[in-house]
Amino acid sequence: MTADASDSPADLDSLAREWRAALAAAGDEEAVEEWRRSVLGRSGALTGVLRGLSALPADQRRATGQAANALKRDLEADLEARQEELRAAALASQLAEGAVDVTLPGRRRRRGGLHPVTQTLQEILDAFTRMGFATVEGPEVELDDYNFTRLRIPEDHPARDMWDTFWLDEDVDGEQPLLLRTHTSPMQIRYLDAHEPPVRIAVPGRCYRYEATDATHEWMMTQVELLAVDEGVSLADLKGTLLEFARQLFGVERRVLLRHSYFPFVEPGVEVAVDCFACPGAETGCAVCRGSGWLEILGAGMVHPEVLAASGYDPGRYTGFAAGMGVERIAMLRHGIEDIRYFYSNDLRFLRQFQGV
Ligand code: DAH
Repeated sequence: MTADASDSPADLDSLAREWRAALAAAGDEEAVEEWRRSVLGRSGALTGVLRGLSALPADQRRATGQAANALKRDLEADLEARQEELRAAALASQLAEGAVDVTLPGRRRRRGGLHPVTQTLQEILDAFTRMGFATVEGPEVELDDYNFTRLRIPEDHPARDMWDTFWLDEDVDGEQPLLLRTHTSPMQIRYLDAHEPPVRIAVPGRCYRYEATDATHEWMMTQVELLAVDEGVSLADLKGTLLEFARQLFGVERRVLLRHSYFPFVEPGVEVAVDCFACPGAETGCAVCRGSGWLEILGAGMVHPEVLAASGYDPGRYTGFAAGMGVERIAMLRHGIEDIRYFYSNDLRFLRQFQGV
C-alpha cells in the first residue's frame, strides 16, 4: 500500500478501495490499530500523500488535496465504525459464552436430614407424648443443689463418683458452684418445686461428664428423663409405661425386665432391660445382646419420699416414678451402631445412612 503525492485522484480511489478492504479484514483490535498506523498514522500512507501535496504542480495540488482530505475524513469514520463493530462482536460473544441454557436440567440439591440421635429422640418423645407426658426442658448449666444435693447425692456421697463433672469457674452468687449437668434428673427437682401434682413430664437434653471417651462413653450425651407423680402411682405404672415405650421403639413383641439397682433419688431403684429384638433369644454371637438375651436401656425407680417432701409434696399422699435413659445408647441398639463416637465425629458417610430413615 504505497502512495505518494503524485497519485492522481483516480489512483487514490483504487488505493482507498485497497485500504477499505484491509480495514474490513482486520479481525481484532490489534489488527485495526496496525491498519490505523499504516494508513492514517504519522508515517502512514495517506499521511504521506498529504505531506507530498506541496511538491505537486499547482493545477493538481488543489484537486488531489481535496480528494485526499475527504478520503482521510472518510477513512477516520470507517475506522471508528470498524472499532465499534469489533467491540459489539466481542460483547456479543461474551454474552453468548455466559448465557444460561434454561432448558438444561437443574442441579439437584442434596437435602439434609435429621441427625440419628435427633431422630431417635423425637421417636422417644412421641411415644411419651402419646402416653400423656408433656415435654419440658431445663438448663444445661446447673446448680450443685439440683444436680446432686436435692437428688440425695451429698458432697461426700460416694455416688458422686459416678459422675465426674465439668465444674464452672464462676459462682452464681458466690454461694453454689455451677456445673454442666451430668444428667437430666435435676429437672425433676426444678419441676416439682414449681408445680402441683399431677406431674407427667419427659425432659430431653444434653448432659456432660468429664470422663474418658470410648466406644460406649462420650463426654456429651443426650438423655430423656421421665417423671410421673400423683396419688396412687405405683411400680406397676412404671413397668406398664416402660413396656409400652419399649414396644413402640423396639417392636410390639418386646418384654421388659426390671432388675434391682441403686440410684440415690429413687427407692426402690431398678435397671430396665428389653428382650433382644435382633435374635430369637440369648443367641450366642448376637451382636446386639451379646448372648444375654436382654438389653439394658435405662435406670428408673420410685421417687424417693425425701425428694418429694423437699419439694413440698406430702409423701404419705403422693407417690411417683422416675426414669432416665441415654438416647445415644437407644439409637445404637436400634441401628446396630457399635461406637458412640460415630455420632459426633461429623463423618458424612456415617450420617447419610440415616437420611430418609
Ligand atoms: N440420672 C441417672 C443417670 O444419669 C439415670 C436415672 C436413673 C434417672 C434412675 C432416673 C432414675 O430418673 O430413676 O445415670
